Amino acid sequence: MNIMENWKKVMEKATLKKVMEAASNQHLVIPAFNIPYLPMMEAVIEALKEIECFALIEVARPDITRFEARSFAAIKKEFDRCKDTSVARLHQDHVPVIDEEGKEVDWKLLVTEAVDLGYDSVMIDGSRLSLEENISISKEVVGIAHPSGVLVEAELGAVMGHESGPMPPYDEIFASGKGFTSPEDAAYMVQSTGIDWLSVAIGNIHGAITGVAKDQKKVQARLNIEHLKKLVQKTGIPLVLHGGSGVQKEYVLQAIQNGITKINVGTEIRQTYEKAMKESGNNVNVAQKALKEKTKEIMNQYYEMTQTARKIGEALF
Ligand code: 13P
Repeated sequence: MNIMENWKKVMEKATLKKVMEAASNQHLVIPAFNIPYLPMMEAVIEALKEIECFALIEVARPDITRFEARSFAAIKKEFDRCKDTSVARLHQDHVPVIDEEGKEVDWKLLVTEAVDLGYDSVMIDGSRLSLEENISISKEVVGIAHPSGVLVEAELGAVMGHESGPMPPYDEIFASGKGFTSPEDAAYMVQSTGIDWLSVAIGNIHGAITGVAKDQKKVQARLNIEHLKKLVQKTGIPLVLHGGSGVQKEYVLQAIQNGITKINVGTEIRQTYEKAMKESGNNVNVAQKALKEKTKEIMNQYYEMTQTARKIGEALF
């Protein structure tokens, strides 16, 4: 067997937990690309295969309710059609306990559905709850997911942007540190729950998903790297950055070097796909081609990462 086949074989068989740990040890980023339109998935996976990079394909509840991802089952079906497990796995993004409109969500039903469908990882978002409630529900999700080998991401702190109302000016949020994840609370949460990854707030914000703002350019967020270092030191698990679109490059690169392993990317790839669809008169092939190029650009130029799947696979030999 030649070297190339070796890393692919290793990656196909490796658990996501092992992949994530190896990526974290080498400071390699695992982007998680949101799929609000089903044909976007094939374009992303084709790009990953071509550049031998590893990423997660993810779908959040708003991708289904506000866009055209249809259902967690439809996403899984499309993943099975075009998957290559040496470069991509499937993650359920944002199952909120209380959603962006303040409504209660039947989170247990949705998490159980993803676990039963065979997703590799799920995310419970109890960030609108008190710390104790967030811990209690996140722990329950670990109990649902881990017996099937499914990883669990939870969130602590306020990553704003999905709410439909007006947001305070970005510079105000960043300067005040309001809503940033507390390192002490994060340590307590990780120890009490057994979660595999934690989404943190360090200046990152989500791209808008409603109204005119969803089509506009996102604010170029900054990150508080000193705060991130404290979180890494206290938690000891791979940390996740939501709101990955448009974060200033110098901050993203520092974040990856300092403990962010997974970065969620939604707005940037959605807007690339929507723009190409609009300009081509809804030609899916043209839009897929544009998205494929954008995916490669994000990995190779923005994150300055090459062949991450190969590198992770070689570390796991
Ligand atoms: P952006 O849309 O800002 O990239 O954020 C995506 C995200 O965090 C999904 O969970």
